[in-house]
Amino acid sequence: MEKRINVAIAGVGNIASGLIQGVEYLRTNEDSCKYLLHPSMANYGVNTIHIVAAFDVDKTKVGKDLYEAIFAPINSTPKFLELSPSDVIVEKGPVLDGITGTLADVIEVSDAPDVDVAQSLKDSGAEMLICALPTGAEKAVEFYAQAALEAEIAFINCTPTFIASDPLWARKFRQANIPLVGDDLQSLYGGTVLHKGILEILSEQGIRIKDTYQLDVSGGLETLNTLDDDRKAYKRTVKENTIKNAFQGQINIASGTSDYLEFLGNRRIGHFWIYGETFIGTPIKIDIRLETQDGPNGAATLFDVIRGIKIAINRAVGGPLSSICAYGFKAPPVYTDRHNAHTWFNEFVNGSRII
Ligand SMILES: NC(=O)c1ccc[n+]([C@@H]2O[C@H](COP(=O)([O-])OP(=O)(O)OC[C@H]3O[C@@H](n4cnc5c(N)ncnc54)[C@H](O)[C@@H]3O)[C@@H](O)[C@H]2O)c1
Repeated sequence: MEKRINVAIAGVGNIASGLIQGVEYLRTNEDSCKYLLHPSMANYGVNTIHIVAAFDVDKTKVGKDLYEAIFAPINSTPKFLELSPSDVIVEKGPVLDGITGTLADVIEVSDAPDVDVAQSLKDSGAEMLICALPTGAEKAVEFYAQAALEAEIAFINCTPTFIASDPLWARKFRQANIPLVGDDLQSLYGGTVLHKGILEILSEQGIRIKDTYQLDVSGGLETLNTLDDDRKAYKRTVKENTIKNAFQGQINIASGTSDYLEFLGNRRIGHFWIYGETFIGTPIKIDIRLETQDGPNGAATLFDVIRGIKIAINRAVGGPLSSICAYGFKAPPVYTDRHNAHTWFNEFVNGSRII
């Protein structure tokens, strides 16, 4: 029987573009699987992933073929390959608080009627829903979490809205025995991973870290969105907490996006600065610059998360999955360090860990 994973996505933005282009790229360039941490998981290769439904509200995306919609000019992820049309049309979900603040200046909401999202998910045969909505769209994220519950499919929350880490939502998914992972996707080789990794090495070598920041600039839509004051604070808190949790809050830390520069497109440029003290109080200072592409960077983590969820579905395991959450997200329900997170994930995949 064909091994196949049916995935739906809410929010046809830069992550969706990175994921879809990645899926199609890897179908014909299997050698590129070497860039993933897990080329195959429980015999699920990357070519088993199929996108079967998609939802958005943007007039330039709704009603379009999905493989055309990901290249709408507002998405800044570069075009890595030419795609033939998919057989998925982007459907209109309810707007709720999805388009507010600065986003409302640049996105025109489609006047197509809202579809019944839960019914559409059922009809599509999707086994899981990826939620890739803008930061701060709390009501809209909760709407899609509820739709996943109603359609009895797993929910992957890429956004910083607390769903997997919220006891109420966690209980709902646990009671329904439906897999839930989140919150706030962690890019495969992004600023948070690098920052945590360097701080870990320094600590292991006995350096007392005093102050550190990781500030980035980007030209992606999500960056424009997170510069609205309330959303900026929201995202910063999640980013700073993920590092504070690894260091028991003993260091002064600032972490977040500091500016939107349209000409950077989907590139994110992070600046890292670390100040610590070592033997007999001598100072140590580190300055680093990291440049990445946002959409593909987040999508690379999703390849492992999607296949992890499929393994959970096959084992009939539901509720928040702490191993996948700790491995792939910045605000998981249970924090652990990077080494443990990788161990937990691998144990979950090989069956020696239940959730
Ligand atoms: N590397 C990464 O890209 C990365 C890493 C970590 C977390 N995240 C998180 O992932 C989420 C998505 O990131 P992105 O860069 O793809 O964002 P994006 O701004 O490029 O795309 C968001 C999409 O959601 C759509 N949308 C808005 N309201 C909607 C609604 N009610 N229903 C359906 N669609 C709606 C928008 O029209 C847009 O197409 C963000 O919350 C971000 O914080 C991304």
